[in-house]
Amino acid sequence: PVLVVDFGAQYAQLIARRVREASVYSEIVPHTATVADLLAKDPAAIILSGGPSSVYADGAPFVDPALFEAGVPVLGICYGFQAMAQALGGTVAQTGRREYGGTALEVSATGTVLAGSPEQQTVWMSHGDAVHAAPEGFDVLATSEGSPVAAFENRERRLFGVQWHPEVKHSPLGQKALENFLYEGAGLTPDWNPGNVIAEQVERIRAQVGDARVICGLSGGVDSSVAAALVQRAVGDQLTCVFVDHGLLRSGEAEQVEKDFVASTGVRLKIVDARARFLQALAGHTDPETKRKIIGREFIRVFEDAAREVVAESGETGSEVKFLVQGTLYPDVVESGGGEGAANIKSHHNVGGLPDDLQFELVEPLRALFKDEVRAVGLELGVPEAIVWRQPFPGPGLGIRIIGEVTAERLDVLRAADAIAREELTRAGLDREIWQCPVVLLADVRSVGVQGDGRTYGHPIVLRPVSSEDAMTADWTRMPYDVLATISTRITNEVPEVNRVVLDVTSKPPGTIEWE
Ligand code: XMP
Repeated sequence: PVLVVDFGAQYAQLIARRVREASVYSEIVPHTATVADLLAKDPAAIILSGGPSSVYADGAPFVDPALFEAGVPVLGICYGFQAMAQALGGTVAQTGRREYGGTALEVSATGTVLAGSPEQQTVWMSHGDAVHAAPEGFDVLATSEGSPVAAFENRERRLFGVQWHPEVKHSPLGQKALENFLYEGAGLTPDWNPGNVIAEQVERIRAQVGDARVICGLSGGVDSSVAAALVQRAVGDQLTCVFVDHGLLRSGEAEQVEKDFVASTGVRLKIVDARARFLQALAGHTDPETKRKIIGREFIRVFEDAAREVVAESGETGSEVKFLVQGTLYPDVVESGGGEGAANIKSHHNVGGLPDDLQFELVEPLRALFKDEVRAVGLELGVPEAIVWRQPFPGPGLGIRIIGEVTAERLDVLRAADAIAREELTRAGLDREIWQCPVVLLADVRSVGVQGDGRTYGHPIVLRPVSSEDAMTADWTRMPYDVLATISTRITNEVPEVNRVVLDVTSKPPGTIEWE
């Protein structure tokens, strides 16, 4: 793989995505990894990411100079560029002046990374310190007003660095620079594609599972469906899918799974009605993390029961279900604090929310993939488009969209409002444009309204339409007022408990997509 060393902030994920967009497989590693750790992964190339520190700050992440003696091609970006300069004997100066945003770059020599570049271009900068002198043996390729050395390289040693952020879309020639590094600088072939992912995962799943039985929690969403389809391709009938109706689903969901997924794959499906059980477990709880943990735990208990039934039905006494398939994605792993040094923002039920006494070994064939990659793999596997293009819906379902205690009545209210919003968004043709639109019930908030001649004292519903590339960051969708108006009118007319509809206009960060 190409290893992206994470020096903090959100840059590493973005770099990893861009490398994969260049059809080269990449993985993120924490900056605490030693050179030996890195080399043990047999990297084809290494990219040092940007980060929030100054190389002079106490405890700033440090790059071991031995990394540059290993013969592995390295690209340093922003902080990584400065750390590289420092480690190799260049000078980095604290300028006290920040260069931030679109910045004019003067290219004096194109070298490798800037091959094909015009003499002047705009790049995205975000830094305080600057490299003032390149290390010995390095050519300076570019400068900007605040960066005497804005790019350098030592072609022979295959070491490269840039001060700006090629991974952000605000650097128009950024992807080209990354590709120059990967293809020309590191000599890599762009051959990572969905077909390879499938072949590799099928082999891995077979090696992990052998001839044991496997169950898969199927939600009908993209992730679990593609995970199930992969496992089915790998081990066929050893797989039973379990659809848990936890009562936190949107309307029509169970039917859709049968219609779209089972019909096209022929997979064995078990539907479990666990509504009472989840409601009981959630009763009295309002804290978001507690709710997430409870839902995660109950899921597993239901899977355990289902596993026993699968064995009983098979008539093979003494056998057991050893494996549980989950559609965990890379951002879930990173955001649940799975990447070392990453903060735990939320316990996604399929990562951080698992109970400690889990009786299954997990099979997570999508653990290294981003959502768009999962969709590509799904299409390649022949998963129906109706599923592949479904908007994300969180495992804990409506349970984390009721702010306050979850009750059966509140679920009915939210389900009704959500169905209206989804129907109107689909009717307006906005499904692809909008990444997803959580509909949230503020169950403990009431406001005064008037309907007919009467006073009402009802609850607000929040619409949270967002646009995103991978759910790591998002912006609120500027959707047509007319559609918002229709949704608002219909919800307040058709759902008696709701007398107000509000729009969430917060990006991520600082808000997350879901309210809990
Ligand atoms: P946040 O709210 O963290 O959401 O910005 C990012 C994306 O993840 C989805 N989400 C989840 N998906 N299990 C899931 O399978 C979960 O526990 C979970 N929590 C959030 C959310 O809908 C959005 O797409």
